[in-house]
Amino acid sequence: MTSATSSSSPFPSVLLTASGSYLPEKILTNDDLSQMMDTNDDWIRQRSGITQRHIIADDQLTSDMAVEAAQNALDMAGLSVDEIDGIIVATTTPDDTFPSTAATVQRKLEAFHAFAFDIQAVCAGFVYALDTADAMIKSGKARKMLVIGAEAFSRILDWTDRGTAVLFGDGAGAVVLEADDNAPDWGILSSVIFTDGRFRDILYVDGGPARGNVGTVKMSGQDVFKHAVEKLAHCLDAAIAASGKSVSDIDWLVPHQANIRIINMLQKKLNMPDEQVVRTVDRHANTSAASIPLAFDEAMRKNMISAGDIVAFEGIGGGLAWGAAIVRVGKP
Ligand code: COA
Repeated sequence: MTSATSSSSPFPSVLLTASGSYLPEKILTNDDLSQMMDTNDDWIRQRSGITQRHIIADDQLTSDMAVEAAQNALDMAGLSVDEIDGIIVATTTPDDTFPSTAATVQRKLEAFHAFAFDIQAVCAGFVYALDTADAMIKSGKARKMLVIGAEAFSRILDWTDRGTAVLFGDGAGAVVLEADDNAPDWGILSSVIFTDGRFRDILYVDGGPARGNVGTVKMSGQDVFKHAVEKLAHCLDAAIAASGKSVSDIDWLVPHQANIRIINMLQKKLNMPDEQVVRTVDRHANTSAASIPLAFDEAMRKNMISAGDIVAFEGIGGGLAWGAAIVRVGKP
């Protein structure tokens, strides 16, 4: 299933005006992992490009990281919390079964004018949340929104399974979206989302509230790899076509940071040079819904991406769920 919006829409433009992120202090290196399980730095680097990951502190929750990232984004936007109409948190690792992590974030930020809810699309969560917020703002339900991806993925890993435990990390990223009635060809130019539940068993957690336990991540790595390359290439093509742009108009690819080999294969398919691809997987590992906004915020704060640049986001994860968005960043 897919949804798409295009730049010829009669609705307001949805500008992406600011970003923020948060990484927990604790760093776990590949060498640290090799003390905990039968693995080694060489294997992890060669198969995934990962050298280290950040791990949430014992007394932290997903909402704590989300709040830090959101506050950074609000500071960059120069907005007060009272100006925010809606908050979406994309997460697979909510603090509680309910209420939503977004409701907790709203309370911690004291953003009491905002409605708040979570979206669960695992590693595609940020793109799904962006797609949803775009539709809400275009339809007039909100003017300013926070979209946050936040994950405490270390809490759902089986630390005895070397096939999955080495690949993930924790963190949060956020963006501010603002309606603008006079900014054609700026902001979210298109977004597409897809799901195929027939592949639910190649990447899942063997638990949940209805099953009575939290569970841990199970993955058939090679199957996921194959689907990722094929489906991400397809959805990027679809998003670029819906935006009215062509590949040569894209200034930056900000991909989901799951595996350097997947990123490299996509880059090759798009024929983009190294300098236009944002890579953080080496230091962040796969932070699921947080990975795209974390990578985006790093590139913004390093002045790699600047206002007016056209950015392509893409992500895929359990479901399978995947999607992409094309955004001209900043304000005219
Ligand atoms: N350290 C050392 N050896 C490991 C290991 C680890 N952390 N994990 C697995 N191995 C071993 C396996 O046991 C296997 O050994 P064997 O040949 O003796 O049986 C060998 O390495 C190869 O395993 P395999 O699973 O075939 O490796 P791979 O080349 O497919 O790489 C992944 C594994 C997980 C890195 C790769 O499949 C992948 O990146 N998949 C996509 C995952 C992903 O991105 N998921 C998230 C999407 S949101």
